[in-house]
Amino acid sequence: MKVLVGKDAEIKEGRLKGITADGRKFIVGRYKGELFGMDGKCSHAGFDLLYGTIRDGRVVCPAHGAEFCIKDGAKVAHAGAKDLRVYIVSVEGDDVYIEI
Ligand code: FES
Repeated sequence: MKVLVGKDAEIKEGRLKGITADGRKFIVGRYKGELFGMDGKCSHAGFDLLYGTIRDGRVVCPAHGAEFCIKDGAKVAHAGAKDLRVYIVSVEGDDVYIEI
């Protein structure tokens, strides 16, 4: 299912945008100019990753520091967290979509 995230220009470098679709949370962010999409709920204790930061190609959860690779969702820090899923993000005209 393809879901509208928002306008391309709204997602600035190093920023995250959150959406809820199909009862689940997702984040879309931009790192080094490229858009990426990932589960929006931390796999450690469920904190909303929308409030996280992007650092060195990873999304960092602000709650307890779990880190997830933006390319494949792999958990790269915090023993209590699991890998997250990543999703295809596309741009059509000015609009950004995530494939969930
Ligand atoms: S909820 Fe994300 S690190 Fe604990």
